[in-house]
Amino acid sequence: MPAAVREQVSALQEDAWPGNDPGRPGVAHDPALSPLSMVLVDDGGTVLAALDILTKHLAHDGGRYLASGLSTVVTSPAHRRRGHGRRLVTAAREAIQASGADLGIFTCDRPLRGFYASAGWQCLGGTVLIGGTPQQPFPSDQLDKVTMAAFFSRRACAHARSFRHSRIALYPGTIDRLW
Ligand SMILES: CC(C)(COP(=O)(O)OP(=O)(O)OC[C@H]1O[C@@H](n2cnc3c(N)ncnc32)[C@H](O)[C@@H]1OP(=O)(O)O)[C@@H](O)C(=O)NCCC(=O)NCCS
Repeated sequence: MPAAVREQVSALQEDAWPGNDPGRPGVAHDPALSPLSMVLVDDGGTVLAALDILTKHLAHDGGRYLASGLSTVVTSPAHRRRGHGRRLVTAAREAIQASGADLGIFTCDRPLRGFYASAGWQCLGGTVLIGGTPQQPFPSDQLDKVTMAAFFSRRACAHARSFRHSRIALYPGTIDRLW
């Protein structure tokens, strides 16, 4: 990513999720989750919206699935409610599908359910993502979160119902405790 874009993304992230290190603004992800950034930039080089995609295998209901999730989705405050976030989150869903992942799955704050649904993600009623680690689990139902998903591979589509009303052991680790 060009430095000028990276700086803007870091500033947006720092504004939305303030960190403690002024020397390192923005959000740092665990490299083990193969973080991939997507950015919507206008013709003048201004970053309108940004997000990161994190990926790992998860075990669920006797199967093993390659799962990606959205993280740090943010639209520049000056450019909100113009459809930029929806456009980027839609593009991310399509990119995850094209990557060969079995499914996309992540949690979001309950009021943003409609935002993600308008970009083609479906809400999994009653589903809890368990973040953290097996030793230090961080389940999403201790926060007011809902789980959003999209099923891509034939196998994931065939087992989509098993992901509803279930507790899914994501275990992304201690850096990105929950996505
Ligand atoms: C959430 C966020 C990314 C939305 O970006 P955006 O570019 O303003 O969203 P869009 O214009 O594409 O919105 C599309 C639709 O989603 C819904 N929506 C957008 N922002 C919303 C919000 N904050 N709360 C509830 N619904 C929202 C609306 O239905 C909207 O359509 P409308 O404007 O016609 O009513 C932006 O508000 C943001 O950066 N928030 C701070 C960071 C954050 O909370 N990120 C999410 C982490 S899970």
